[in-house]
Amino acid sequence: MIHSSDPKEITETILSWKSKGLKVGFVPTMGFLHEGHADLFRRSVSENDKTVVSIFVNPAQFNDPEDYAKYPVNTEGDLQICKEAGADLVYLPAKDTVYPGGIPSVELKVPHLMKNLDATTRPGHFEGVLLVLSRFFHTIPADRSYFGKKDYQQFLIVKDFAKALGFPMEVIGVDTVRSEQGLALSSRNARLSPKEKEEALLLSRALRLGENLIKQGEKDPAEVLTVMKDVLDSSSLIKIDYLEVLNAETLEELHILKGEILLAVAVFLGQVRLIDNLTVKVS
Ligand code: PAF
Repeated sequence: MIHSSDPKEITETILSWKSKGLKVGFVPTMGFLHEGHADLFRRSVSENDKTVVSIFVNPAQFNDPEDYAKYPVNTEGDLQICKEAGADLVYLPAKDTVYPGGIPSVELKVPHLMKNLDATTRPGHFEGVLLVLSRFFHTIPADRSYFGKKDYQQFLIVKDFAKALGFPMEVIGVDTVRSEQGLALSSRNARLSPKEKEEALLLSRALRLGENLIKQGEKDPAEVLTVMKDVLDSSSLIKIDYLEVLNAETLEELHILKGEILLAVAVFLGQVRLIDNLTVKVS
């Protein structure tokens, strides 16, 4: 496995692979890697001849500078995880390499998918994600890129954005990896106290209850939301940021539950913000 902070070296290596007809997969990350990332790497390794990982904590997507400053870093451990999962090339750029002259003043948007959920509770977040990805998609001309569906809205936005801008790259969503008890894996889980970690299990429990209600024939989103909210409200440590039942393709509100449905939740547990979601299909 090669690692480099030089974008020219990264692009040249990828182009030389592609000139030999090799397929290249790309997994962008912000580091502090865990089993959820390793799952994305393995998926890419299984579907491509070469896998490229980027590790870059992107300042443009943090609306809270303190959150950015506190973002955990573990480069040595990350490289080990990349290697074990079979990655071939890791791009570790410096901030000035990605944003020479600072973060540019442009606003990238996919308006129809940026009307709710994290787009409203974290203003500027997705604009920052799209900015860094448009830079990476030029440096890393891969055939496929892989995104965890834990960040479901991000996955939909990036897929639409890549298509709209004509990046010749397939954007693939990968199912969320969970702990045995159901907690969605996230770099942020490391910041939870043991008690908070226990309470965090209520997120997936609420989602599963919502899913079961829908599968049993409930058609009213308000009923499903009430049941899920009761589960989350049973913890005095949890502060709900949002709890939504939406059309899973358009992220529009639903009045009757049918088609592919997204159940999405974001909460604060102490200082830590956690998100989770699941999709359920009904006719
Ligand atoms: O999902 C993430 O970790 C980040 O938003 C991404 C896609 C690596 C862009 O910085």
